[in-house]
Amino acid sequence: MLILGIETSCDETACAVVEDGRKILSNVIASQVKSHSRYGGVVPELASRLHIKNCIPILENALGEAGIGLSDIDAIAVTAGPGLIGSLLVGVEMAKALAYVLEKPLVPVHHIAAHLYTPFLDAADALGSSDDFDYPYLGLVVSGGHSSIIFVREPLSYDVIGRTLDDAAGEAFDKVAKLLGLGYPGGPIIDTLSTEGDPEFFRFPRPAMKGDDCHLSFSGLKTAVVRFVHKWRDEGRAIGDGDVKNIAASFQAAVVDTLISKTQRALIRTGAKRLAIVGGVACNQGLRAEAQSRLRRIKLHIPPPILCTDNAAMIAGLAPALLNAHRTAPLTLNADANLPLT
Ligand code: KG4
Ligand code: ZN
Repeated sequence: MLILGIETSCDETACAVVEDGRKILSNVIASQVKSHSRYGGVVPELASRLHIKNCIPILENALGEAGIGLSDIDAIAVTAGPGLIGSLLVGVEMAKALAYVLEKPLVPVHHIAAHLYTPFLDAADALGSSDDFDYPYLGLVVSGGHSSIIFVREPLSYDVIGRTLDDAAGEAFDKVAKLLGLGYPGGPIIDTLSTEGDPEFFRFPRPAMKGDDCHLSFSGLKTAVVRFVHKWRDEGRAIGDGDVKNIAASFQAAVVDTLISKTQRALIRTGAKRLAIVGGVACNQGLRAEAQSRLRRIKLHIPPPILCTDNAAMIAGLAPALLNAHRTAPLTLNADANLPLT
C-alpha cells in the first residue's frame, strides 16, 4: 500500500511516500527556517504563504524521488491538527483536492500521534532498530509546541501520563537562545554550544521535580536563566563567548535531567519496557547521550534527526493503521488547531 503523506502544521512544508507504513520511498521537506529566523520565531501568516508557494513543488519532488505517479497512490494522509490553523489549512486543502481528483481515501492524521509512530519507520541510522520495536511503549514527545509523556498501549490507543504545564521543551530552548542573542531556532544552537561548555558551571533548577506527577514545566527554568543573565548584566559583568557556552550547557543539562527523570517516573508508573523519544528536541545530543546512559533497562528508540523534526513520512506511516480502523474523512474535512489526541 502506497500512501502519500502531507505535513504543513508549522513551518515545514513536507510530502512523503511510504509503503505499508514502514518503508520510506521519499521524504521531502522544505524548511522555512531562514524566512522566519529574522523575526526570531515563526510568523504564522508568512508560514501559510510559504506553504502555498512550496506545496506543489514539494509534492512533485516526493513523487519523483519515490519513482511513482499520482495514480499509484492508494490513499492521501494529511496532518489535520494540532498546529497553526493557516498552515494546517494549506495541507488539508491540498489533500482534499488530491483525494477528490484521484478518488482515493483521505486520512486525517494527528500530528503528535504521527510523531509517536516514528519508531516503526525503517531508518538504518535510528538509535535502536525499528524491526523489533513494538507495543506497548512509552513516548516522550518533545518539540517546539509540545512536551508530553504518552503511553501507547496498542496502535491508536494513547494514555497521556504527563503534559506541558507551560512552555514546551523546544520553546524553552528557543527562548533561552533568544535571550542570549543566539538566533532561531535555538535548540540546535544551544546543543552545539553545549558541547564546548561546562554543564556544571551553574546549577539551574530542575523544574517540577517535587511531587510525584509526570507533567513537564520549563517556564520556571527559563525565568531562572533570565534572572541569572540580568544579574550578571546589572553587575556590569561582560558575558563572553565562554560564559555563553557554559550557560547554554548548564541550561541544557537542567532540561535533559528533568526530561529523563520524569520519563523514569512514567516508566515505573506504566511498567513500560520500551521508550521512544520523538519530536525536534529528540535531535539533542545531550538528551540522546543521557537517555542511553541512564535508561539501560528498557528498549530505547530515538529516530534519526530527519525523522525527529517535522516530516511527512510519519504522517504517511500512521495512515495504514487509521485506514484499518476505518478512520477516513469526507471531503468536508476541516483543519483543527487544537485537535485532541484520540
Ligand atoms: O518537532 P519540531 O520540528 O516542530 C514542532 O512540532 O514543534 O520541533 C522543533 C523544535 C524547536 O523548538 C527546536 O529548537 C527544537 O525542536 N530542536 C532542538 C534541537 N533541534 C531542534 N532542541 C534541542 N536540541 C536540538 N538539537
Ligand atoms: Zn512536530
